[in-house]
Amino acid sequence: MTKTSSFNAPKGIPDYVPPGSAEFVAVRDTLVRAARSAGYGHVELPIFEDTGLFARGVGESTDVVSKEMYTFADRGDRSVTLRPEGTAGVMRAVIEHGLDRGQLPVKLCYAGPFFRYERPQAGRYRQLQQVGVEAIGVDDPALDAEVIAIADAGFRALGLDGYRLEITSLGDDSCRPQYRELLQEFLFELPLDEETRQRAELNPLRVLDDKRPEMRELTAAAPLMLDHLSESAKVHFDQVLGYLDAIGVAYTINPRMVRGLDYYTKTTFEFVHDGLGAQSGIGGGGRYDGLMAQLGGQPLSGIGFGLGVDRTMLALQAEGKTAADPARVDVFGVPLGEAATQRLVVLAARLRAAGVRVDLAYGGRGVKGAMKAADRSGAKYALVLGDRDIAENQIGLKELATGEQRQIALDDAVGTVAEALAHDR
Ligand code: HAM
Repeated sequence: MTKTSSFNAPKGIPDYVPPGSAEFVAVRDTLVRAARSAGYGHVELPIFEDTGLFARGVGESTDVVSKEMYTFADRGDRSVTLRPEGTAGVMRAVIEHGLDRGQLPVKLCYAGPFFRYERPQAGRYRQLQQVGVEAIGVDDPALDAEVIAIADAGFRALGLDGYRLEITSLGDDSCRPQYRELLQEFLFELPLDEETRQRAELNPLRVLDDKRPEMRELTAAAPLMLDHLSESAKVHFDQVLGYLDAIGVAYTINPRMVRGLDYYTKTTFEFVHDGLGAQSGIGGGGRYDGLMAQLGGQPLSGIGFGLGVDRTMLALQAEGKTAADPARVDVFGVPLGEAATQRLVVLAARLRAAGVRVDLAYGGRGVKGAMKAADRSGAKYALVLGDRDIAENQIGLKELATGEQRQIALDDAVGTVAEALAHDR
């Protein structure tokens, strides 16, 4: 037969298949659990939305909007975009469902794929997975600290420790415009290349993030937002740091931090892992106090984060750690013959109903193949059943690590197996 076509996953998009996918699920679920522990409710939002939502929410001048969006016309000729991030969509949903008119803060959590047409490289994908939270409607530094502490607790629960939290304040309406002018005055005195000059016009803060050594040197004496905060923004920032100290979350102040999205105000942060090379951000977030009003809602404040599930997996790998349970099941059934299969199929269903994870050898495999499959499944026990066992109302319970086997009563197998597993735990 000739091969007429073959397909691969789109460029820059990771597939997660077993056994590695167990790691993906463990990372995602652990991060979500950290958010749940602080009362964040789940939201499930569209994968694509009106293009204007992201243009207005994320900012036309950002790379994300100007270069990286998957935008297309649907069959009704509406311009839609695969969501490049989660915050704008959450704001849209909060306004649309009137959640902002109920109890504040509105605390929401999401997990899922986002899409950015970036140049693929290690740790940079075109479909990326995030776990995110947004807390909307209360401008309290204690809430900023909660959001940051949840992310930190999520990473710690996974066993990660080779990362640091960088934090700064980007100021607010009452100090950022003046600072922006001050920075531009400074930048326009420098011998900038054309592209950098344009960036200085459009978004001068981003020039401070230029990684080229000559630019680092040129901008070494640039005025910093942190030195020009309004009194209220400064008090807010100091209080956030005070709360983080009290909770015991370590941080480094990075006054040159620049985020890739335009909506940030005041507290802004990033979690950076040193084992990842260039794509070192495993999570980031901050306040976005003007976003809701900008999207047509009430002038409510907000703060949140997006944690990169893919990059967190890479960070765990870099630390030689795993978050996944290597066992796919607890028990593996090995039927020897037709009658044994019939009995084990039923026993497996009963065990599953009792909360035990069970798989079986199917397809009438020989005992050798079936035992190999049992070992590969990571199960603690094999249940081995042959015709003679059935006649004697018995079944073999074999501990796979030691090879020890004992015969137990077939009728009581559910209880005995559940007990043995509970005892092991
Ligand atoms: P972000 O910093 O653009 O923030 O993305 C958050 C995290 O997603 C990054 O720290 C990184 O771990 C992961 N990430 C981003 N792009 C990629 C990529 N191309 N490949 C792999 N991982 C990636 C946001 O998206 C904001 N919505 C976070 C937020 C929520 N701020 C306030 N609320």
